[in-house]
Amino acid sequence: MTKAVILGTGSCLPERALSNADMERMVETSDEWITSRTGIRNRRIAGPGEQNYQLATKAARRALAVTGIKPEELDLIVVATISSHMIMPSTACFVQAELGAANAFAYDISAACAGFTYGLDLASNYIQNRPEMKILVIGAETLSARINWEDRNTCVLFGDGAGAVIVAGANDGRGVFGSNLRADGKLWNLLCMDSPESCNPDLRQEDWQGAFIRMNGGDIFKHAVRSMEDSVTSLLRQHDLTIDDIDLMIPHQANIRILNNLRERLGIPEERVFVNLSQYGNTSAASIPIALDEAHRQGRMARGDIVLLCTFGGGLTWGSLLLRW
Ligand code: UT7
Repeated sequence: MTKAVILGTGSCLPERALSNADMERMVETSDEWITSRTGIRNRRIAGPGEQNYQLATKAARRALAVTGIKPEELDLIVVATISSHMIMPSTACFVQAELGAANAFAYDISAACAGFTYGLDLASNYIQNRPEMKILVIGAETLSARINWEDRNTCVLFGDGAGAVIVAGANDGRGVFGSNLRADGKLWNLLCMDSPESCNPDLRQEDWQGAFIRMNGGDIFKHAVRSMEDSVTSLLRQHDLTIDDIDLMIPHQANIRILNNLRERLGIPEERVFVNLSQYGNTSAASIPIALDEAHRQGRMARGDIVLLCTFGGGLTWGSLLLRW
């Protein structure tokens, strides 16, 4: 049976790094607080020439270069993002133009930090129907533009970046073989970001707080651990696997305490969980594809390995996905 295989990965991070020491000069915080509560030490912040679509395009070029596939061979470009530089056109259309991927249709999806995993599942479903397709899936964010830099509860957590994968059909046992994706819109206000004022006809000017990320960190923390554990456990059960069958878990990189909690509940040893959060912070939809690219370049996955992705984010959205590398 044809499955969606990742043929190549790529990523792109902005040049400028903002350390915890830099954060200490901006808000009332400390390196000790940030490191011990989150595990984050640095984050990258986009500057001129590093728009969301430009980071996305560079990540895509790197992924294409690995595969030898030419932009004009792509059939579809999906960009998972919640920080496009324009509402219309989509970031995917800008990437399509930059790459010269003349034969690809292109659109964005919005599922916050879960966006890339949703996108990979989407690509896998396209491949079931049209196994000849070549699909570029990207997670790209420039959330630094949507952060209130005076709010210490959020500004220390997030960073910018992009990661990309090239997906195509194969019949050799590799590829995506299961997913468990979930959402609960009733919990939308635990983690949200307003649209520009003009998009909300019900908005009372005095209620306007700016189009910034707002979050109830404690509730998100608890939900993240429980929901990812539930999703992974049911996905493994559905495929007659146990956590011992997983060669590498690549979780959404939000907080080291969330990851340690999840790891302990699932019973997976530290060396089988990929973590790069200390350098980039939470890059939302970009976090898993950046981690996937780094894990790939570090030789952390061998052909035939079972890789588990798991994620959660605003929406709320969450889920997990299994693939044989
Ligand atoms: O992709 C999904 C995105 N969201 C997340 O992943 C967030 C998940 N949640 C978390 O990561 C954690 O809840 C946080 C890191 C946001 C907060 O950690 P916490 O251990 O849950 O701290 P807390 O919210 O209980 O806050 C403890 C104290 C508060 O002070 P008071 O009220 O006890 O006096 C905060 O005001 O820490 C204070 N605080 C800070 N202090 C220094 C909050 N942010 C900071 C800060 N520096 N940056």
